[in-house]
Amino acid sequence: MEDVKTFFDRIAPYYDRIVQMAGAKYVLWSKYIKLLLSQNAPGRRILDISAGTGSLDALLVKEGFDVYAMDVSFAMLKQSLHRGLGGRLVAGSFDAIPFSSGAFDAAISTFDSLNTVLSSDELLRVFREVHRVLVDGGVFLFDMNSPYSYRTYWDGLERVDEGGGMMVVWRAFRNGAITRLRIDIFLREGRCWRRISGELLERAYPLRTIIGLLRRAGFSRVICLNHMGLSPCGRSTMRYQIMAFKIV
Ligand SMILES: C[S@@+](CC[C@H](N)C(=O)[O-])C[C@H]1O[C@@H](n2cnc3c(N)ncnc32)[C@H](O)[C@@H]1O
Repeated sequence: MEDVKTFFDRIAPYYDRIVQMAGAKYVLWSKYIKLLLSQNAPGRRILDISAGTGSLDALLVKEGFDVYAMDVSFAMLKQSLHRGLGGRLVAGSFDAIPFSSGAFDAAISTFDSLNTVLSSDELLRVFREVHRVLVDGGVFLFDMNSPYSYRTYWDGLERVDEGGGMMVVWRAFRNGAITRLRIDIFLREGRCWRRISGELLERAYPLRTIIGLLRRAGFSRVICLNHMGLSPCGRSTMRYQIMAFKIV
């Protein structure tokens, strides 16, 4: 199994088209994150710890936030060069964030990026790092797929998206808490198709585990909403939207 960075390095040139075909709505998403940040962050300095190709961050900059876009995959960041994030792109890993303590008012992570962290010890390290780089009163906003979504949606998934000379086949295989996601991208080249494949492991964390780890990392207040909404999450939440506050 390849590691997460290798997976995203390989699919980076196609990522924006893939997620667009899968229905990602970044404009709406940026409005939602803006609302949560405006109500909960003490200032406008934001670190996206898993920025990908920067779609969301570019929109947040337009909304007046001072955003640094970090990702472990330089190939993903490279795709954002046309988005005007300029000197705000940072190659780095969320378990060793290359910024000094208290540098940000908020940190964000979107699109299930933290489900690719495969052990609780590792996730705790990430939470500790995020806690360190936040100011007192800072907030960490992130989403994660719930165990319910892996059981009811991802388990056994086979899905094909098609458009613009590209076909994307998704398959998912669940084994307990771990789901193996396989992607096959077919690109039309004249009369032939070129195929690019990759596999990624994702882990489902029960909400109580996530909250327990956030508390151990020092976050004293944690709120869980239904993603893209403001109602509290429950048993059938597909994606958790979590807000964790650093209050010293
Ligand atoms: C599903 S993509 C989400 C990208 C972006 N947030 C979005 O909404 O489109 C997950 C991203 O997490 C990044 N990632 C995975 N492990 C990471 C790590 N240890 N540190 C920083 N970024 C990481 C990947 O490279 C990838 O760009």
